[in-house]
Amino acid sequence: MPGENPFTHANTRVIAIASGKGGVGKSSVTTNLAVSLARMGKRVAALDADVWGFSMPRMLGISEAPSIKDDKTMIPPSSFGVRCISMGFFVPEDQAVVWRGPMLHKALEQFLTDVDWGEPEYLIVDMPPGTGDVALSLAEFLPRAEVVIVTTPQPAAQAVAQRAAAMADKVDLDVIGVIENMSFFRGDDDKAYEIFGSGGGQDLATRLEVPLLGRIPLVKELREGGDIGRPIVETDPSGETSQVFGAIATAIDSMAPKRIYKKELRLS
Ligand SMILES: Nc1ncnc2c1ncn2[C@@H]1O[C@H](COP(=O)(O)OP(=O)(O)OP(=O)(O)O)[C@@H](O)[C@H]1O
Ligand SMILES: [Mg+2]
Repeated sequence: MPGENPFTHANTRVIAIASGKGGVGKSSVTTNLAVSLARMGKRVAALDADVWGFSMPRMLGISEAPSIKDDKTMIPPSSFGVRCISMGFFVPEDQAVVWRGPMLHKALEQFLTDVDWGEPEYLIVDMPPGTGDVALSLAEFLPRAEVVIVTTPQPAAQAVAQRAAAMADKVDLDVIGVIENMSFFRGDDDKAYEIFGSGGGQDLATRLEVPLLGRIPLVKELREGGDIGRPIVETDPSGETSQVFGAIATAIDSMAPKRIYKKELRLS
């Protein structure tokens, strides 16, 4: 129901994609994972919680703003089967948004409560880089969120990535897995070249005692797809990269959510 936060009790699995630092591929992972889940037939929604550096509208190729119903409720636009809400629908891409803490908190709340999300099976959340106000607000609004940490393969990166895990722990969210991005480049000779080193994703997963959900190769088409709004899992569904995303989506889908709340079982 609009006006109410549907994600505190409904049967939606909330998956927050986080990292310790910027530029590791959170938004690309969020986009392709969301579309992969939709391609598996799941009802999927995506929340672009990166209110400063939003990128989901562009990556999903959405140019229309949400429509408004009954003066208050936003109907999210959808693309490749994914409904999405982003600050990018309200601010031109080249303008700066300056947030004061309470305004930010309120905006995130409205993104959850004043939106007709339907009843998605998954809400995938693209987190801003690092830790901070957004993470705190979201932990409050999405207490059942499961966190997936994206990292790059160099062993030095995992110390930074661990900050995201420490943040999740502070706000009492479970980390359910690690995704290593930019793991290797597959040359014309079919060899995998580990340009950014190797082992970082597995090391981090081992440290956090969670599975390494997948290793995503460095591919030009993934970057291009993000730039033009045509995710690689849609344009090249049988390619190596799409298969990795498909396997990650399947692995997440096969995990039992740690805490299941059923609407019918609520006491109030
Ligand atoms: N596996 C990959 N292969 C090729 N390019 C990639 C890959 N992953 C991400 N990129 C590119 O790297 C850049 C950064 O990726 P992305 O925007 O997804 O990262 P991010 O972690 O969301 O960044 P930010 O912290 O700024 O939000 C983008 O141009 C994206 O297209
Ligand atoms: Mg991003």
